[in-house]
Amino acid sequence: MTKATLKIDKDYKIGKIDNRIYGSFIEHIGRAVYGGIYEPGHPTADDMGFRRDVMELTRELQVPIVRYPGGNFVSGYNWEDGIGPKELRPKRTELAWFAIENNQLGTDEFCEWSRRTGTDVMMAVNLGTRGVDAARNLVEYCNFKEGTYWSDLRIKNGYKDPHNIKLWNLGNEMDGPWQIGHKTAEEYGRLAVETAKAMKWVDPSIELVACGSSNMSMSTCYEWESTVLEHTYKYVDYISMHQYFSNAKNDSADFLASIISTDDFIKNIIATCDYVGAKKRTKKKINISFDEWNVWYHAREANKKAERWQIGPSFNEDIYNFEDALMVGGALITLLRHADRVKVACLAQLVNVIAPIMTENGGRIWKQTIYYPYLHASLYGRGTAMNVLVDAPKYDTKNFTDVSALEAIAVESEAEDYLTFFMLNRGTEGLEVECDLRDYPGSRVAEMLTMTCDDLKAINTADNPDRVVPKTSGDYELDDNKVTVKLMPYSWNVVRIRINES
Ligand code: AHR
Repeated sequence: MTKATLKIDKDYKIGKIDNRIYGSFIEHIGRAVYGGIYEPGHPTADDMGFRRDVMELTRELQVPIVRYPGGNFVSGYNWEDGIGPKELRPKRTELAWFAIENNQLGTDEFCEWSRRTGTDVMMAVNLGTRGVDAARNLVEYCNFKEGTYWSDLRIKNGYKDPHNIKLWNLGNEMDGPWQIGHKTAEEYGRLAVETAKAMKWVDPSIELVACGSSNMSMSTCYEWESTVLEHTYKYVDYISMHQYFSNAKNDSADFLASIISTDDFIKNIIATCDYVGAKKRTKKKINISFDEWNVWYHAREANKKAERWQIGPSFNEDIYNFEDALMVGGALITLLRHADRVKVACLAQLVNVIAPIMTENGGRIWKQTIYYPYLHASLYGRGTAMNVLVDAPKYDTKNFTDVSALEAIAVESEAEDYLTFFMLNRGTEGLEVECDLRDYPGSRVAEMLTMTCDDLKAINTADNPDRVVPKTSGDYELDDNKVTVKLMPYSWNVVRIRINES
């Protein structure tokens, strides 16, 4: 085993973690809605047709917020189509994913699903085909108490209390030519600021996310953010980031190293936000809503065969393997490392479409490999993110140099009774990691969870749902305020230390 060390200083805090970084995403795409969260007639369906089995796993994950209804879908969406009596709702061609949208689930139902599931809603408005008017009306419909056209219509539709949605996206990926109503940064910036003003005039308590670049490879990346923020800085609170990882070239070392790019991407976006803030001579900081991230590439070939104009077709159903789980763990560590500026993040998506949860129509449910690091971070990664100093072997891959075999972060729990280390060993060698707990005298290891597998490509399926699951590990020693843990090659590890025990 090769050796590594990890140092932590009680006073060296990154910042308080905003629990919304464990958010997720439901778009009207594939079987995310129809056959995912909503399937009347399914054996577990409740009185509104929501699958209870999906709700249960969402609750187990303690998902704090779910972004809705898109994604690319939102750029062609008329939200009014999805309210009122279901039999009167129109069927429409859906041009983001070439499906038929029957609008059997809309704003009210999604808000009710969230309420029943115990999560909050992050709502996106359409700035592709629509603009200020539709957006301010939606805020009025959702958040205004009563006595106006839209709030009274919500009440008539059966929702007396406002949905009270606090976080809103001003469109989605508006820099992308694939977007319905794609815009230049100038065009989008102007539309976004006018929409933001009207939305906040209806409800000043809401927070707004302006669209950042769709990904870091866009030729307009950073220039886009700078221009958009020139227009919107005063009225928005966050800029969005999106990133999807791919191992299409089947180079696992390079794939797992590519988490480094997220770190750089975040730093560059923060620098861009602060540059615009400095130019504006303002103390206000724009934070990050990393509202789409995941591994996404497995279903590309299958997608090519997908038939157009279906309702709830199988589409983008990536089946995740063990190395994808490692990747997701690494990405979560990276988000935590920037907890001072990344305040919202959404694993894209929640069910069936590039998701931790999979279902069969009318049938079973199972947890994908990526479910577990997401679960661990959501359960044990709340409190204060702590800096750790890692000294571990380094190597080079095709596109990255000086890749540390060990990615790590620590989180002090809100009650200050646990210190949790999240550690990814992305190297091919086992690692013996010595963690210096000098600043936490008298602690003990409460639990160590580890995810490892003999096959990087192993997957979970409905028939074999437990092929890749975490196990409790005893591979640690505590001695003289030092804990030494043994990490298997290619492994995701969670070490929970009980601190401040009296
Ligand atoms: O999450 C799937 C899609 O990825 C979203 O609709 C879009 O915003 C992104 O390109």
